[in-house]
Amino acid sequence: MNHSKIIKSTVCYIESHFEQEGSGHDWRHICRVRSLAKSIAAIEGGDLFIVEMASLLHDLDDWKISVNSSVSLAEEWLRKSEVIEKERNRIMEVVSQVSFKGAGVDTTATSVEAKIVQDADRLDAIGAIGVARAFAYGGNKGRLIYNPGSRPVMHTGFEDYKGSNTDTINHFYEKLLLLRDRMQTKTGRDMAGKRHRFLEIFLKEFFLEWEGKN
Ligand code: ADP
Ligand code: NI
Repeated sequence: MNHSKIIKSTVCYIESHFEQEGSGHDWRHICRVRSLAKSIAAIEGGDLFIVEMASLLHDLDDWKISVNSSVSLAEEWLRKSEVIEKERNRIMEVVSQVSFKGAGVDTTATSVEAKIVQDADRLDAIGAIGVARAFAYGGNKGRLIYNPGSRPVMHTGFEDYKGSNTDTINHFYEKLLLLRDRMQTKTGRDMAGKRHRFLEIFLKEFFLEWEGKN
């Protein structure tokens, strides 16, 4: 199969897989990440096939939503699609470097493609869409909107971050507000500015209303 056929069949597979996902990791999230990643790659460079395939597959094995962590669905799909070994390894390497793993955990990406897809995924976690997704995730996991008693924890290990059950407002301080300064490409950093400011405006209004001052 040529690259464009592989991308087309991957789109169909991922669309049906994520159609009903209700924690903010739905098909439309994947579409936005793919399109943001393509826009960043248009400026930063990188191999577009690797960027697109990694964007499409990046949440397939995510610990937050995946049911069976012992088999990599992404790897299985790449083998089934007869993606050559060299490309398969590059795509899998990008996928493994996308996710946030805790405020104190270094997730510097090693290839230009991984930097691009990580930035695209993180841009979709901030701004107005980011706010919507954070509460969709929190609601889906039965978390509180806000617990005034909670304090942000700078998790130094992935396991601590995984085990956290914090309220969604606190998640802004543990992750979302940190993303702008951790963008890996200049283009991603430029795009993150406006979305970051929106998070700050949202939080300001949220606390005014919470305190009955608005
Ligand atoms: P990542 O792999 O970097 O976590 P995702 O594409 O999986 O990126 O997006 C995670 C989404 O889940 C974000 O939009 C984030 O706001 C949302 N979310 C909300 N609350 C939490 C939480 N307590 N822990 C992790 N993610 C959360
Ligand atoms: Ni994602």
